[in-house]
Amino acid sequence: NCPHATEAAGSDGIRLTMESALTARDRVGVQDFVLLENFTSEAAFIENLRKRFKENLIYTYIGSVLVSVNPYKELEIYSKQHMERYRGVSFYEVSPHLYAIADNSYRSLRMERKDQCILISGESGAGKTEATKKILQYYAVTCPASEQVETVKDRLLQSNPVLEAFGNAKTLRNDNSSRFGKYMDVQFDYKGAPVGGHILNYLLEKSRVVHQNHGERNFHIFYQLLEGAEDELLRRLGLEKNPQQYHYLVKGQCARVSSISDKNDWKIVRKALSVINFTDNEVEDLLSIVASVLHLGNVQFADDEQGNAQVTTENQIKYLARLLGVGGSLLREALTHKTIIAKGEELVSPLNLEQAAYARDALAKAVYGRTFSWLVNKINKSLAYKDAECPGRRSATVLGLLDIYGFEVFQHNSFEQFCINYCNEKLQQLFIELTLKSEQEEYESEGIAWEPVQYFNNKIICDLVEEKFKGIISILDEECLRPGDATDMTFLEKLEETVKNHPHFLTHKLADQKTRKSLDREQFRLLHYAGEVTYSVTGFLDKNNDLLFRNLKETMCNSENPIINHCFERSELTDKRRPETAATQFKNSLSKLMEILMSKEPSYIRCIKPNDAKQAARFDEVLIRHQVKYLGLMENLRVRRAGFAYRRKYEIFLQRYKSLCSETWPMWEGRQHDGVAVLVKHLGYKPEEYKMGRSVISFFPNLCIEGNVLDYMKLKSFLQYDTFWFLLSSAITIQSWWRGTQGRRKAAKKKRAVETIRRFIKGFIYRNYPRCSENEYFLDYIRYSFLMNLKRNVPKNVLDKSWPTPPPSLCEVSQLLRQLCMQNMVWSYCKRISPEWKQQLDQKVVASEIFKDKKDNYPQSVPRLFINTRLGTEEINPKVLQILKNETIKYAVPVVKYDRKGYKPRARHLLLTQSTIFVVEEAKIKQRIDYANLTGISVSSLSDSVFVLHVRCEDNKQKGDVVLQSDHVIETLTKIAMSADKVNNVNISQGSIKFTIGQGKEGIIDFTSGSELLIAKAKNGHLAVVSVFSVRGCRAWEGK
Ligand SMILES: Nc1ncnc2c1ncn2[C@@H]1O[C@H](COP(=O)(O)OP(=O)(O)O)[C@@H](O)[C@H]1O
Ligand SMILES: [Mg+2]
Repeated sequence: NCPHATEAAGSDGIRLTMESALTARDRVGVQDFVLLENFTSEAAFIENLRKRFKENLIYTYIGSVLVSVNPYKELEIYSKQHMERYRGVSFYEVSPHLYAIADNSYRSLRMERKDQCILISGESGAGKTEATKKILQYYAVTCPASEQVETVKDRLLQSNPVLEAFGNAKTLRNDNSSRFGKYMDVQFDYKGAPVGGHILNYLLEKSRVVHQNHGERNFHIFYQLLEGAEDELLRRLGLEKNPQQYHYLVKGQCARVSSISDKNDWKIVRKALSVINFTDNEVEDLLSIVASVLHLGNVQFADDEQGNAQVTTENQIKYLARLLGVGGSLLREALTHKTIIAKGEELVSPLNLEQAAYARDALAKAVYGRTFSWLVNKINKSLAYKDAECPGRRSATVLGLLDIYGFEVFQHNSFEQFCINYCNEKLQQLFIELTLKSEQEEYESEGIAWEPVQYFNNKIICDLVEEKFKGIISILDEECLRPGDATDMTFLEKLEETVKNHPHFLTHKLADQKTRKSLDREQFRLLHYAGEVTYSVTGFLDKNNDLLFRNLKETMCNSENPIINHCFERSELTDKRRPETAATQFKNSLSKLMEILMSKEPSYIRCIKPNDAKQAARFDEVLIRHQVKYLGLMENLRVRRAGFAYRRKYEIFLQRYKSLCSETWPMWEGRQHDGVAVLVKHLGYKPEEYKMGRSVISFFPNLCIEGNVLDYMKLKSFLQYDTFWFLLSSAITIQSWWRGTQGRRKAAKKKRAVETIRRFIKGFIYRNYPRCSENEYFLDYIRYSFLMNLKRNVPKNVLDKSWPTPPPSLCEVSQLLRQLCMQNMVWSYCKRISPEWKQQLDQKVVASEIFKDKKDNYPQSVPRLFINTRLGTEEINPKVLQILKNETIKYAVPVVKYDRKGYKPRARHLLLTQSTIFVVEEAKIKQRIDYANLTGISVSSLSDSVFVLHVRCEDNKQKGDVVLQSDHVIETLTKIAMSADKVNNVNISQGSIKFTIGQGKEGIIDFTSGSELLIAKAKNGHLAVVSVFSVRGCRAWEGK
């Protein structure tokens, strides 16, 4: 609520701003006249009004009564935000406003389910109608709603422009003066939603249809129709766009008014009509009637030789016949003749000029007036609350809004002003009844001693007007009914006779010498509560009689225009009783209105008009003082102050102020009365400063030490309120800062994300270009992500060959890393293994170097561990051990030796020592081969296990090469090769191996594969070795 709060630097700043905001509105005068120091001074009262008015503070309270001064300009205080500010807030917590009254009534209606009414009074142009509309808008905006309720709200709001078009007119006092009284009930359901409405209308000023005073206009609708309707419609209605063409529109000589846009208003009215459920046909019928009134005004007569009136304007009759759906000749006849029923006989007599004009105007007024009532009914139908849940039961509470014509005084005042001002007398009386009188009576019943406040009770004037037999209305009626030639003047005489001694009544004859000058002979003067008004009796009888000749009525009864037909009922023709006069009807309807209002809880808005010129910012003190006086505002204030300057029901008082005392805060559990007692005691009030009644606590400001209890209470509660608002605003400030920070962070993050994504896309596009600012980020990111990925997925062992694919720029690095990684794994593997295992692997590596991919049965040997020795010491003959005692046996294995000649297989042991190979048979060493003499080793590439040890032959001791077979041929040969350092001398041959048998002879071993293993001497004298080619064995191994 305080835009500067966040700008102010610290919490002090906020506090200061808030406090100044709270007190600023107090600084201009007082918000409640009850707080006025000099409360008996009218000057002080008006000064306060003036000060506030100057600052556009048009609203001020007198307790719970709202005083409103018409600003005559648009103020920025009716926005939705303003409405929200007043919603559900206690009266004294916000500055005075119409909305506070509206909300207060609404809340009472909801909480207590008691019918409410808001009485808006003030003279013509003081702002009553505007106030009503604003209150209605307030409800439309702030009340809960459903879809169905929306339509009701719309209709409630839209009924206004329609009724104003037909019932308002420009007067000298107000450009949009209500010329009918309106009381509108808004019905609310139990949820507080407006669900329906009903309008009561009071006495429309019909005379305006046929005559307007200078500077005034007829009802708005005529001008709106002519100005706004499309040409086609005007053509159908037989109208011209120019108001000057119509006698009924030219009397006031001001068809155009600067403050009114008839064209715009026409659009609004047309739209409103459809909102309130008018069909196109109904609109057409309605406008036909409006047009027909204009045509009627243009009907002219001339007299014939006998002095009888004849219609001279045939065209108008033609239009009228069409628009009203009546026969042309019938209408012509009815306008110029009258039918009288005397002693059961019908007499038709022609009218003279004057009478015909009178009949024509009477018809125009009747048609318009009845159509207006029809319109109200029609609106009521569309507003009717259809309670689907429990029809027939009254389930809605109502809130009444009374916007009735205000007190008015013109140069020339007639019957209408008499009725209007009488109505205002009645409302003033009601106001007195309900506020001044009842309030004082309440003091009495509470047993409080108080100084009675003198106020002007206008009952005396009301009686003067309405009393039976003696009242002005009674006398008028009597004169109207009297056979013989009663005239307005005879009525005046009767008045003089009957009420001559009344202090509020005066005529030329009754006045003293001095006043007589200001009174014409056909005038009487009433000293109203609001001022003197001089009425001219001319027209009183006619207007009161409201006479329409029977034959015109009959013609209208036959109308084919459905609205007219509805407005003029046949039963009227047959009804012999005299209809009630206008004044009596009005009196009765007012008395019913008073009953309605009395049954509800009232709130008051007293409207004041600041000047007669309808000007903004003009404060006409004389005019205002007059209104303050006659509205009884001073008395109102005095009563408020003299008795209970401040009074509240216990529960409300407690609810409002319980926060001021720790004992009552947050909840008072006991009786409300006791809670209030504790509270006031805590606040330091002396017993004589307040009174506790039956249900109400009251304070006497004049007894209060601080000077003004209300001020004090308000101040205290405001302080509490300030603290509350201060805390609240602090919380909000902190929240908003934090939210702001969060928001900014989020936004920055998003921005960064966007930039990253954008850079990424750009980088992707430029990824194959040399490094440049566009792809820099992308390339780096790719590298980074490759390395990070690698880090997470390095191979865990040497057999794991997986490796992430590097980006092009990292191929070389990747390669190096891969090597490093492998080296590393190998190195760490090597570090971990035992010496035995190392030896084993050394041997395996040698075996691999020798045999891998060269000998078929090598693969089978790979998974088999090489054994240190295949023969334990115990398996070797001790004699052999004896012989070899100086040498350690490094390896021993059983082998088969093939004889050099016959190739006979002989089982032998092969022993390896540090320097020699021994071939041993039992205890005998059959052959010893020093490693130095071992020239090579031959073996086939097939899967056999035969091998040849080649021995140097110059040495005769040597027996030549040895052909052996070992079941562990790979192991055996590897050990021999390693021991003898003959790794490079292992010869793997395909096909055959030649070997020496000693003394230069040669033997040959042929190797082949076959299905059966065979080692035998072949026919060619060779040793034939057939090995089984085991594909499966190889493959199986390879697969591992
Ligand atoms: N609260 C307001 N704000 C602005 N203008 C207003 C306000 N109240 C009244 N007026 C002006 O005064 C004129 C007369 O008010 P209106 O309500 O028609 O008077 P009343 O119904 O009392 O005769 C309105 O047409 C409008 O121009
Ligand atoms: Mg009005």
